[in-house]
Formats: sequence, C-alpha cells, structure tokens
Amino acid sequence: MPLQGRVGIITGAARGIGRACADAFLRSRAAGVAIADIDEAAGAEAARALDPTGERTLFVPADVTRRADHDHVVSRTLERFGRLDILVNNAGIAGRPGTLETQAEGELDRIWAINVKGVYFACQAAHAHFVKAGYGRIVNVASIAGKEGNPGLAPYSMTKAAVIGLTKAYAKEVAQSGILDNSVAPAVIETDILKQVTPQVREYMVSKIPMGRTGRPEEVAELVVFLSSERLSFSTGSCYDISGGRATY
Ligand SMILES: NC(=O)c1ccc[n+]([C@@H]2O[C@H](COP(=O)([O-])OP(=O)(O)OC[C@H]3O[C@@H](n4cnc5c(N)ncnc54)[C@H](O)[C@@H]3O)[C@@H](O)[C@H]2O)c1
Repeated sequence: MPLQGRVGIITGAARGIGRACADAFLRSRAAGVAIADIDEAAGAEAARALDPTGERTLFVPADVTRRADHDHVVSRTLERFGRLDILVNNAGIAGRPGTLETQAEGELDRIWAINVKGVYFACQAAHAHFVKAGYGRIVNVASIAGKEGNPGLAPYSMTKAAVIGLTKAYAKEVAQSGILDNSVAPAVIETDILKQVTPQVREYMVSKIPMGRTGRPEEVAELVVFLSSERLSFSTGSCYDISGGRATY
C-alpha cells in the first residue's frame, strides 16, 4: 500500500477534497492522519467517522492564518503518532464573488492570508522536522484558476498562482533534502466551496472542461495519495493538473 505506516497532516480536511484525501490516506494504510481545520464540529466529526476506533485519526482545531497553530498541529501529530511524513496544504476559500473593481481590500487580505500564508506557514512549521528526517512529501492544493484565471474570481486566481509559485521556489530550496513538494490544480470539483461562487461563474468554469463534467473529491484524492507517497521520487516543484482536460500543460 502506497502510504503504509506513513503519517500525514491535512489542512481543511473537515469536508470536501481534504476529507476525501484523509479517507484515501487511511485506505492506503497510513498509520495516522491529523485533520487540521477551523471548523471544530465538522473536523471532530470527520475524524470520528473516518476511523471510529480513533486510532488513526486526530483532529486538531487550527486556523491556517496563524503561524502558531501550525506549530501546534505539528507537535500534536508527532506526540500522538511519533512521526510525520506528509503535509497536504488543502484549506482554502473561494472568497466573495465579484469583479476586480468591486473587491474590498479587506477581502483581498483575508483570502491571501488563508490561501497563501496558510500554505507558507505550514511549510515553515514542518520544515525542520522533514529536514531532520531526511524525508517529506508536501502537496499544495492550488487550482486551475491559478494557471488560467477565472473572471469574477480575481483574488482567488491570484492566490492560487501564488501557491504554484511558492511550491516551485520551496521545492528547489529543499530539492536535496529528501523533501518533494508539488502542487495540484483541480478544475471544478463538487464540494461546498462552490456555494461561494455565482451560478454564472460555475457555468463558465464547467463550460471550459472538455470532459464536460465536474470532478469528484475522490478523484483528486487519488492523485494526492500518489504525490504523498514514496512512489514519487523524481518530481518536485511541479503542478499536476486534474481538470478533465481543461489544462494540458
Ligand atoms: N472544489 C473545487 O472546485 C476546487 C477547485 C480547485 C481547487 N480547490 C481547492 O481545494 C481546496 C479544498 O477545497 P474544497 O472544495 O474541499 O472546499 P470546502 O469548502 O469543501 O472545504 C474547505 C475546508 O477548509 C477549511 N478552512 C477554511 N478556512 C480555514 C482556515 N482559516 N483554517 C483552517 N481551515 C480552514 C473549511 O472549514 C473547510 O473544511 C481549497 O484550497 C480550494 O481552493 C477546490
């Protein structure tokens, strides 16, 4: 099994893509999954539902915009499972819909803090541990919006481009330390995040997908499992599309 004995942290895993990743990690025989999410009720419920014995899941309440919360998640994970091999930076928001001239500065700061600083801080918090262990797999959940831009979602598109850039830069910094750091760029995936976009934006995004359908969280999770495993050995800094053919570069 690809993740036999491995332990990972997944941010934003109370629902959606993150929860599907947690489920896929457990099915791939991961020894432990730490679910870090700001939604305490849903996070605790996900941890219980995914492993009713409570042996292989741990919920840690965390706001990814706070650096200290990431240190806490890392230390709780090490305390509970005794190791840390994988970090999936998945927590993110679409933000308020609206064209560029309608977006308030505060909204830009909010989406930047969650979608970009959240990933940066998590990598900082796990860095020393991964370097010491000489092993680490990081998967950052970006978006096709970061490659192509979606009208009506300028702030979101900007943050996801930043996640792709951050992945490339950090991957090169640690390329010889056993840490492989990649991002994924999903197109429209059926989750609660779609409640944050207007029907027009949703329609636009689906119309761009050659396969003519939305994706499922489980489909993204399959790719994330591979990128989180030691089967991945000669790829770092890359952005993997999972977009029904929308992006082919
Ligand atoms: N669903 C899509 O169409 C799609 C497409 C491309 C990329 N993505 C990306 O995938 C990731 C997951 O999205 P999803 O569709 O599963 O969304 P979702 O809304 O279903 O889940 C997001 C999770 O992140 C958590 N979260 C939000 N703010 C947080 C914070 N400050 N600290 C900690 N946790 C926080 C939420 O509580 C929630 O559980 C996001 O980064 C999103 O941008 C989604």
